[in-house]
Amino acid sequence: MAARFINVFVLVLMVRQWTVLVSAEECPYYMDILPCVCTQDKETLEVDLNCSRVVDIEQLKQIFEAEFPSINFRELTMDGTAEDPVPLDYLPDGVFGPVTFRKVNIRYTNVQDIGDNVLLHLNSTLEELRLNDNELLSFPTADLPHFPKLLFLDISSNNLTFIADLHSLTLNSLNLGQNPGLFFTTEAFVNVPNLVDLDIGNCSLKSLQPNLFTEQWFLATLNLQLNHITELDASSLNFPNNSLNEIILSGNQITTVNKGFISGTSGELYLVMMENQLQELRQEVWQPVFQAMADDGGRGFVVLDGNPLVCGCSIGWLVASEHLLKHLAKGAKCNNGTSIFSLDPDYYTSNCY
Ligand SMILES: *[C@@H]1O[C@H](CO)[C@@H](O)[C@H](O)[C@H]1NC(C)=O
Ligand SMILES: *[C@@H]1O[C@H](CO)[C@@H](O)[C@H](O)[C@H]1NC(C)=O
Ligand SMILES: *[C@@H]1O[C@H](CO)[C@@H](O)[C@H](O)[C@H]1NC(C)=O
Ligand SMILES: *[C@@H]1O[C@H](CO)[C@@H](O)[C@H](O)[C@H]1NC(C)=O
Ligand SMILES: *[C@@H]1O[C@H](CO)[C@@H](O)[C@H](O)[C@H]1NC(C)=O
Ligand SMILES: *[C@@H]1O[C@H](CO)[C@@H](O)[C@H](O)[C@H]1NC(C)=O
Repeated sequence: MAARFINVFVLVLMVRQWTVLVSAEECPYYMDILPCVCTQDKETLEVDLNCSRVVDIEQLKQIFEAEFPSINFRELTMDGTAEDPVPLDYLPDGVFGPVTFRKVNIRYTNVQDIGDNVLLHLNSTLEELRLNDNELLSFPTADLPHFPKLLFLDISSNNLTFIADLHSLTLNSLNLGQNPGLFFTTEAFVNVPNLVDLDIGNCSLKSLQPNLFTEQWFLATLNLQLNHITELDASSLNFPNNSLNEIILSGNQITTVNKGFISGTSGELYLVMMENQLQELRQEVWQPVFQAMADDGGRGFVVLDGNPLVCGCSIGWLVASEHLLKHLAKGAKCNNGTSIFSLDPDYYTSNCY
C-alpha cells in the first residue's frame, strides 16, 4: 500500500514537471523585439511572432539578435498588403538566428531573393511555408528534401520563371500558380509523389508535356486554369491511381484534344474546361471519357460552358445518348447560343447515322 502511494506521488511529481516543460515557451521582452509582436496561445501555450511592421532588413536582423527565452515558435507572420508591401527585398542566410517555426508566412513583401540556407535551421520543424505574393525570382527547391515535415508550400504570385525538379516525400499541397512564364521540366513532379493538391494556374503554360503526372498516386485536385494551352496531346493527363476529383483547365485556348488525352481517372472526376475554344467533341476522343464516367456509375462531370461547340452531326453521338449526356454539365451551349440539352436527340438519330 505504501509503495503504491509513493508511486502515485512520484507520478504526480512527474506530471507537474512535464507541465512545466510544456509551458516553457515564452515570449521575449516586448521592447526587445519591436515592431514584431509575440503572442502566446492561451490554450496550447505556443508562441507566435508577427513581424509585419518591420521596416528594413537591419531591423529584422537586430530583432533576432535579442534574447529569446524560447526559440521554438509556432508561426512567423510577415504580411503586407498589395498596396503596402513589407519593404524588404532580400532575406539573407542567418537572419532568423536560431529561432525556429513550424509555419512561416511571408506574403505581400518586396522580397525577390531568399538565401539558400535562410530556412535550413527549420529542417526539423517546418510544416507549412507560405511565400505567396512576393517578387521572388527564384526559390531554393534543392532544400526541400531537408524538410521532412513539410506538408504545404505556396510560392504562388511571384516572379518565378524556373522551378527546378522538386523532391519531397511529405509535400501534400503545392501552389506554383500566378508565376507568369514559369518553366519546369518533364521530371518536375516525379519526386513529389504525395501531392494531393497541385496548382499551376495562370503561369502562361503553352502546353503540357506528356506524362507529367504519372507518379501522382494521391493527387485529388489539379489546377491548370488561365494558361495558354491550345492542345491536349495523348497522355497529357495521365494518372496512375484514379485519385483525381477535379481537373481545372478553364480559361485556356484549347482548340484540339487528342485521343487518350486523359486516363487513370474515376467516374467521380470533375473535368472543368470552361471558356476554351472547343468546337468539336470528336467521338473517338470524347466518348471514352464520358463512357468511363457512366460505366463507373459515378457522379463525374465534364464542364464545357463557354466553348463554341458546333452542334452538327459530330456531336450527335453525345446528344443521342441519354446515359452519356448525364455527365455533361448543364451550361454547355452550341455556338449559336442553344443549349446542348434542348437539342432534339431524335433529329440526330434519324439524320446523322
Ligand atoms: C500581424 O500584424 C499585422 C499588422 O499589425 C496585422 O494586420 C495582422 O493581422 C497580424 N497577423 C496575424 C496573423 O496576427
Ligand atoms: C537538421 O539539421 C541538423 C544540422 O545540420 C542535423 O543535425 C539534423 O539531423 C537535421 N534534422 C533533420 C530532421 O533532418
Ligand atoms: C515582378 O513582377 C511584377 C509584375 O509583373 C513587376 O511589377 C515587378 O517589378 C517584378 N519584380 C521583379 C523583382 O522583377
Ligand atoms: C494572372 O496572373 C497575372 C500576372 O501575375 C495577374 O495580374 C492576374 O490577376 C492573374 N489572374 C488571375 C485571374 O488570377
Ligand atoms: C491509390 O489511392 C488510394 C486511395 O487514396 C490509396 O489508398 C492507395 O494507397 C494508392 N495506391 C498506391 C499504389 O499508392
Ligand atoms: C442552333 O443550332 C442547332 C443545331 O444545328 C439548332 O437545332 C438550333 O435551332 C439553332 N438555334 C438557333 C437559335 O438558331
